[in-house]
Amino acid sequence: MQSNTLWWRDGVIYQIYPRSFMDTNGDGMGDLPGIISKLDYIADLGVDAVWLSPVYPSPDVDFGYDVADYRGIDPKFGSMQDFETLITQAHQRGIRIILDLVLNHTSDQHPWFLEARQSTDTPTHDYYLWAEPGPKGGPPNNWAAIFGGSAWEYEPAINQYYLHLFYKEQPDVNWRNPTLHDELLDVFRYWCEKGVDGFRLDVFNLYYKHADLPDNPPQVPPTPPFFRKFDQQQHLYDYDQPEMLTVLAEIRAILDQYPERFAVGETFPENAESAVKYSTSGLLHEAFNFEFTHCPWLARPFMAAVQRYESLLAPDQHPCYVLGNHDLARPATRYAKGEDDSRLKVAAALLLTLRDTPFIYYGDEIGQRDIPIRKKEDILDPIGKSFFPFFKGRDGCRAPMQWNAAPQAGFTTGTPWLPVHANSATRNVAAQQADPDSLLNFYKQLLALRKAHPALHRGSLTFLQDSAKFILTYLRAAENDICLVALNFSSYERELILDNFIPRDWNVLLSTEKNLPLRFTEGVLTLKPNQVLILHHA
Ligand code: NOJ
Repeated sequence: MQSNTLWWRDGVIYQIYPRSFMDTNGDGMGDLPGIISKLDYIADLGVDAVWLSPVYPSPDVDFGYDVADYRGIDPKFGSMQDFETLITQAHQRGIRIILDLVLNHTSDQHPWFLEARQSTDTPTHDYYLWAEPGPKGGPPNNWAAIFGGSAWEYEPAINQYYLHLFYKEQPDVNWRNPTLHDELLDVFRYWCEKGVDGFRLDVFNLYYKHADLPDNPPQVPPTPPFFRKFDQQQHLYDYDQPEMLTVLAEIRAILDQYPERFAVGETFPENAESAVKYSTSGLLHEAFNFEFTHCPWLARPFMAAVQRYESLLAPDQHPCYVLGNHDLARPATRYAKGEDDSRLKVAAALLLTLRDTPFIYYGDEIGQRDIPIRKKEDILDPIGKSFFPFFKGRDGCRAPMQWNAAPQAGFTTGTPWLPVHANSATRNVAAQQADPDSLLNFYKQLLALRKAHPALHRGSLTFLQDSAKFILTYLRAAENDICLVALNFSSYERELILDNFIPRDWNVLLSTEKNLPLRFTEGVLTLKPNQVLILHHA
């Protein structure tokens, strides 16, 4: 194991969804000056880097994940000067900036596509994936879009179809075109030169499709979530093609020309195997493993997910778990009961004491709940409208940050683009800053402990049981620094059998039962409902 600190491996990353973080011009949408105004909050939280969801010019069919210019800043978020100020001011506080690069597709309003669709002779036509209609007319093959329907859209002007694995307004690019390939690799250089510290690669393993465009075979029975044509196919040809490995190596070689640059990939589908395959030496530094987001609130599935992932990782690979992001129901919505945050403290302690690079989605540190989505006509996220009521889209987890008890939670003086949660008068940053037992202060304590203890930020991980029914218990150790973490997932008092445990050898570093001494008798440690206990070996 390397012993020097490496910011992305040993640090913690905070994800900001810019349109919902802080609005400074009253248009109801967050902006870059808003993020700059909150840098002290972010620094005080104790994170090491910020990942910004896309801030490039975009018509917002997919809220920024449809990019119309990879080298610009959308005026609704501010100017390039604002972005440069953000980098400078973040760096002054020791915070790195990670940009989201969406290079599987562009917006259909990108100048490349506007030209490409005009005629087959245009210089950028081959930047996209075009095909003639199939033998009986209709789409060239059976591929399905992840966001519903066929993955092909007909362009009457040229009697060809173009491929889009997401919305039809997000045409997939042709990475096999050498000019496009070079253009996209240059985007990494452009932002590195501006001082950006890393990149989150949106659905990177979709970049290449099989060159012959064969039909995908059917998947029987379909895979969850079942309601799309996409779930009824085996995806042999529309992603995960071998050329991906070559382009990742090229991206890595560019990043390695700059000091300490980092890339984390969003794998699709979301399992540990894909994460491990691409986050290996010479490719990505890390790739998200989403398996936690499928775990019910029980110790055993979380432990199994960690054991499985750890068993797949080579010694030089680094884990990266996800609890929440801009596409998923928030952890509070999945796990918490009502306004009670005790399970969220367990979840936070898990994320921040495992061997991993934790990513915290904005607002999770105060336990924001998803805003409720009741009516189809209120939904802004197009997939929510298409799949309603089976899936109500992603508006719920994208609502404004709750800063204080002021109207609109202090997020905006205008009308917010999505409603502020009804609990914002009581659940907000200001209220939690004032409460020593709040979730926010618990996050801050965890982040400070993680930073202070080599065991917690870069130590080995050893479970103390073979399986966990209620309590997850593990040791983290680096050199002489040893921590023991015990997390009671149960809502009842539970006992943990620890055979070789001598209480006087251990100090309490952090406990959600502040005034309770260790309760240890005859090899059994007793934990209160949902107690988090972190001990340090004396
Ligand atoms: C994954 C992103 O996280 C999601 O928000 C987006 O809609 C799709 N990729 C398409 O870019």
